[in-house]
Amino acid sequence: MRTFKIGQNTDVFIGRDILRQGLLKPKGRTALITDSHVEKLFGLDLIQHFRKEGWNIELLSFPAGEKHKTRETKAALEDQLLRLNFGRDCTLIALGGGVVTDLVGFTAATFCRGVSFYSIPTTLLGMVDASLGGKTGVNTIYGKNQIGAFYPAHKIIIDLCLLDALPEREWINGMAEIIKYGAIASPALFDMLEQSVEKWAMRDPEFLAEIIFQSIQIKKSVVEEDPQETGLRAVLNFGHTIGHALETMTGYALSHGEAIALGMIVESWMSQQLGLLNSAEMMRLHCLFKKYNFSLTWPDPFDADSFKEALSRDKKAKDAEPRFVLLKAIGSVIEEHCRKVPSELIYAGLKHAKL
Ligand SMILES: NC(=O)c1ccc[n+]([C@@H]2O[C@H](COP(=O)([O-])OP(=O)(O)OC[C@H]3O[C@@H](n4cnc5c(N)ncnc54)[C@H](O)[C@@H]3O)[C@@H](O)[C@H]2O)c1
Repeated sequence: MRTFKIGQNTDVFIGRDILRQGLLKPKGRTALITDSHVEKLFGLDLIQHFRKEGWNIELLSFPAGEKHKTRETKAALEDQLLRLNFGRDCTLIALGGGVVTDLVGFTAATFCRGVSFYSIPTTLLGMVDASLGGKTGVNTIYGKNQIGAFYPAHKIIIDLCLLDALPEREWINGMAEIIKYGAIASPALFDMLEQSVEKWAMRDPEFLAEIIFQSIQIKKSVVEEDPQETGLRAVLNFGHTIGHALETMTGYALSHGEAIALGMIVESWMSQQLGLLNSAEMMRLHCLFKKYNFSLTWPDPFDADSFKEALSRDKKAKDAEPRFVLLKAIGSVIEEHCRKVPSELIYAGLKHAKL
């Protein structure tokens, strides 16, 4: 098992079969909160185990899926906690993917003005991204993650056994972020990914543990330097300006991983066209997505107006003009983190990626 801290307040534990090793030690009354899929997969078993250990713990769940990451679901959970007489000294444990860790983290941030919060991510994306860095929140009809708080978990337990049940689409969502970490910050991680496709295909446990660990170290170093997302943290958005716009335009028919992979292809091409990135490095990135079997299917039909509208609403946009994280090489990005580019280049980039 590997253990380390993120910032001063978050203890992280990574290993296999570590959930039942007494690491959690929650304070006061405890609620294990999960979604309806993960409840059946792991929640019911775990609650029995924790009760046998003598914990005073309740299991709460809500319907799985992004569309339930709402203020309404949060209010329903809060009402259940209040009905059960939970108070200031309680602990909330999130067990699930990014939907659960975002929603439960936000609930923990506001319940009795902030209670103890532990996170057990169960998707690859949750392990390398969503559960780390303290961003919590819910969606509204106006967009994703618009209401929320910075509230880092006090403990994060990453038990790699939980991935054994993960569907293929969720593996791809996580791998897109891992490739992103290599591309923006680590030539060594990128090299390892290039050389290890067979290990990925076999879901080799040592390889998975290593790429998850390295990804977490990259996110850790970025969020420690910029905990409130005022500058450097933008680099984590490589591929996301185009990717988010594609997700919005397709009404989320395109998975997050496929959308940001297309985004990284377009944004690396723009980097190359601007003379920042050489063609060979750009091709390495494009080839890596192919090696890892990303479908890279361009949305068809392509609604240019809604794409443009979504781009202008990107959180890095200034005066409705989108800004992009651009690569200088595999493993490094431009110093100003993100910048505007001529709109002709964006549309030429889209054409290039469709080929
Ligand atoms: N806070 C952040 O910094 C941050 C970063 C990235 C993404 N996010 C958020 O994360 C969310 C996406 O997270 P996600 O991709 O984990 O989606 P998710 O939480 O919806 O999980 C995807 C699906 O997999 C199921 N599932 C979860 N664990 C499983 C397992 N071990 N085996 C089988 N099925 C399992 C879930 O029930 C769900 O149906 C989005 O809401 C996004 O905004 C947050």
